[in-house]
Amino acid sequence: MWTTRIRPSSLTPSNTHPEVPGAAQSAYSRSENQAAILALGLSRATHLRGVPQLIDGFDGFVFVTPEYNHSTTGVLKNAIDYLYAEWNNKAAGFVGYGVVGAARAVEHLRLIAAELQLATVRSQVALSFYTDFENFTTLTPGAHQFDALSATLDQVVAWSDALAVLRK
Ligand SMILES: Cc1cc2nc3c(=O)[nH]c(=O)nc-3n(C[C@H](O)[C@H](O)[C@H](O)COP(=O)(O)O)c2cc1C
Repeated sequence: MWTTRIRPSSLTPSNTHPEVPGAAQSAYSRSENQAAILALGLSRATHLRGVPQLIDGFDGFVFVTPEYNHSTTGVLKNAIDYLYAEWNNKAAGFVGYGVVGAARAVEHLRLIAAELQLATVRSQVALSFYTDFENFTTLTPGAHQFDALSATLDQVVAWSDALAVLRK
């Protein structure tokens, strides 16, 4: 993927937090979160097996999103909603693609992240269908987009590190 080519080391899982980082400090504990999920009639479906552990293993995230009706996709929102403690006290950045770089979708994701106690960094990548894609399909990002991605990744790593004290 484009992002991992630029900064692979910052996107690899860490083994330093094997068990629910941040659960002790979070508003919801893992069991409270599971209780809330059960109360809503949802369950951790079998196709999600391993996903909580996968998200646990990362200290920061870069969400890549298109834009549908000025928001992110229902699929991404649904995936985010299945977890809670696993997102807490970590950092996130965004890469959006759309008519205006999925800017409105990213703003919605920032609101969602606030509820998840997931700190979102200022820098973001806004890929335009008009200027960063050939024929609206093949990714051909402008040079400035590499700088934007680099700045985003730097901020995600810095904030993930700074929040480590809350994940103990
Ligand atoms: C129902 C619908 C709503 C859309 N709304 C937006 C929008 O608000 N902003 C935008 O930039 N693109 C919008 N698009 C275009 C999609 O973002 C575009 O098709 C994109 O390629 C979807 O990415 P994906 O194929 O990776 O899901 C919309 C497309 C559909 C079908």
